[in-house]
Amino acid sequence: MPIFTVSSWKETGTVAQARAWVNSLAKEIFPLVKGKEIIVLPPFTALSAVSKDLKQLNLPIKIGAQDISRFEEGKHTGEISAVMVAEFASYVMLGHSERRSQLGETDEIVAEKVRLAKKYNLTPMVCVSEIPQAEALKKLINDFSDLIAYEPVFAIGTGKPDTPDNANEVAGQIKSIFPQARVLYGGSVDGSNAKEFTQQKNLSGVLVGNRSLDPNFFLEILKNV
Ligand code: PGA
Repeated sequence: MPIFTVSSWKETGTVAQARAWVNSLAKEIFPLVKGKEIIVLPPFTALSAVSKDLKQLNLPIKIGAQDISRFEEGKHTGEISAVMVAEFASYVMLGHSERRSQLGETDEIVAEKVRLAKKYNLTPMVCVSEIPQAEALKKLINDFSDLIAYEPVFAIGTGKPDTPDNANEVAGQIKSIFPQARVLYGGSVDGSNAKEFTQQKNLSGVLVGNRSLDPNFFLEILKNV
């Protein structure tokens, strides 16, 4: 089972910055990829350039988007649909707590997006910050066998991660709801703590925001998961 190592850039990065990130990984990443599924989630505007550069450099990094529209297509100004994202990406993150709290994303909306992601062959990575969100997803979509990221709100961007023990415990509860899902931990992961999380029995990887923006820090994490 690979260790998932995910870099999410949130609302950060021009195309030029995204291309520089990819290019600076190119020299050092190859010895670090064995046994890992490395996924980068750039902003929508950089998906095309990142996908081209990864192909050209032959880098073993998969691409994901940070969201898709809840609507399949049509009169939804400004939205970006699953089929559009699927031109560049194989994963999509859904239901991040920032979207839930800042943009009113509900469990129902997340479930609609999961259905569209699957329809267009995008692997969904659903973020939950607490067990009731996983239970709500269960009621709405029943079967879910992809990725779930446990990301407690108190740990996101604060430098104060959850304890590996607690993350493992919560991941175990998530797995009792969705036995086929793989659970990742996210929230203030860096090179010094990543391994403590990936060593836990119920965790299959880490989702990293802030500490993955600098390619050198991301390489540190890849060395330590
Ligand atoms: P962080 O963000 O690594 O900056 O805490 C994690 C996330 O929001 O996925």
